[in-house]
Amino acid sequence: MSETSHGTTAGTRSRLREIPTVTARDGIGGTLAFKRDPLSFLAGGIARHGDIFRFRPLGIPMVLVNHPDHVQHVLADNSANYDKDAFIFKAVRPMLRDGLIPVTDMDRWRRQRHMMAPHFTPRAVASFVHNMTDETEQALGRWEERARADADGILEFTEEFGQLALRIVNRSLFSAAVGDAALAFERAFGAANGILGDFLRFPFPPLSVPTPSHRRLRRAIDDMDAFVSLFVDKRLSGNEEDGADGGADLLSLLLHSVDEESGTGMGLEQLHHEVLNLCVGAFETTTCGLSWTFDLLARHPEAEEKLHAEVDAVLGGRLPVFEDLERLVHTRRIIDEALRIRSPAFQTMRRAREEDELAGFRVPAGSNMVINSYLLHRHPDFWDDPERFDPDRFTPEEVARRPRHAYVPFGSGPRVCIGKHFALTELALVLASVARGHRLVLPEGAPAVEPEARITLRPKGGVRLRLERRR
Ligand code: HEM
Repeated sequence: MSETSHGTTAGTRSRLREIPTVTARDGIGGTLAFKRDPLSFLAGGIARHGDIFRFRPLGIPMVLVNHPDHVQHVLADNSANYDKDAFIFKAVRPMLRDGLIPVTDMDRWRRQRHMMAPHFTPRAVASFVHNMTDETEQALGRWEERARADADGILEFTEEFGQLALRIVNRSLFSAAVGDAALAFERAFGAANGILGDFLRFPFPPLSVPTPSHRRLRRAIDDMDAFVSLFVDKRLSGNEEDGADGGADLLSLLLHSVDEESGTGMGLEQLHHEVLNLCVGAFETTTCGLSWTFDLLARHPEAEEKLHAEVDAVLGGRLPVFEDLERLVHTRRIIDEALRIRSPAFQTMRRAREEDELAGFRVPAGSNMVINSYLLHRHPDFWDDPERFDPDRFTPEEVARRPRHAYVPFGSGPRVCIGKHFALTELALVLASVARGHRLVLPEGAPAVEPEARITLRPKGGVRLRLERRR
């Protein structure tokens, strides 16, 4: 009897069902419909076939899984059989190289993750709280100034949140004051996100072909690399002004790390890639998270009123500190709900290393398992009226009623987001610090902001809001 290391045998295989396949009416293997609108295509596939189906855009074997049990199997329970040698990570590799986000070699991943993990524990994150509130205060000063200069007082906040997120992560992990360079990084990432987002929908021609848009991608990556070099080179040359307290930060840890096997350091190139992965991982998702949270709040006055009442009661006008977080209960529920309905990192994939059994279906080796949290977070079996914004979905009783893997904004299993505590703390502190004295208000007649499926789920055109002082 032939047997794979992950448990399908010739005997079990014969009783396994084949996964339903999207047919030619969607273009060859779903190629055209997927290119036009991937979210609608996948939602249509779920409506026709249920929680698991196959499709082959341009011949790439994909399997969408949309049930919490399937997600748990792929990301957590049988994660050893599902690696990151999947299509989406191949697409982002020219940008992220072999950094922590896409790395496939699990020994290398384990060493890197183990080394960085102590900088992301709740206790480590508590030491970044002052950076988070201080940067938000400075940002509020900039926004007030800019709003005064604008006749309507309206700002495009997505770009503003991007700069805030970058300043916070660089100050916290690398003791770097990136200042206005943040804008250049933000624009370069925006260009790369657009080009790679298009490529994910229709992966032709290959990225190695120097089309005008692929050359733009190359330039955008060069600009992101230059941003990282700005503070890594300064630290290497030992003459930086802003790293005075950087003795024990993550950058110095990476610089002095020694590979136990080879006895050598990680090498400057790898160091550079790890720093870039952290900048990208932290910046874009948090930017989308803040943008969607404030957009949703501006459209839901009852949630905003509750937020203001809580912030006033807990903070009494002062800036939040770490100990306040456990009492900012409604604040946290608003964030959880925003990350549900507009999950920033809304898609990921894993490659099935070997044939496997999943819920009675045969998963062929080499399948790209697609997990789409935009759709999973709307699964009607687990979410009532899923388009409704309702932070009370996250009361402890409601959370306990759902399977854990019905909600995965930070992923799950060994490759769960390393920055989860960092991000949740930052989002809550920015929200509370702003709500202490300000509101971001929807301009009269503002249309709904559409989600745009790129690598991340961006607000199309950014969120435009008016900054007002609270009365
Ligand atoms: C709202 C904010 C954030 C969201 C929604 C988010 C989401 C995610 C998700 C879903 C994954 C897993 C991807 C997969 O399994 O394929 C991930 C991984 C990762 N995230 Fe985040 N993230 C956020 C913030 C951050 C922050 C603040 C940092 C760093 C400071 C960060 C760094 C990373 C890294 C390095 C990985 C790869 C981890 C590994 O494979 O070991 N993220 N993130």
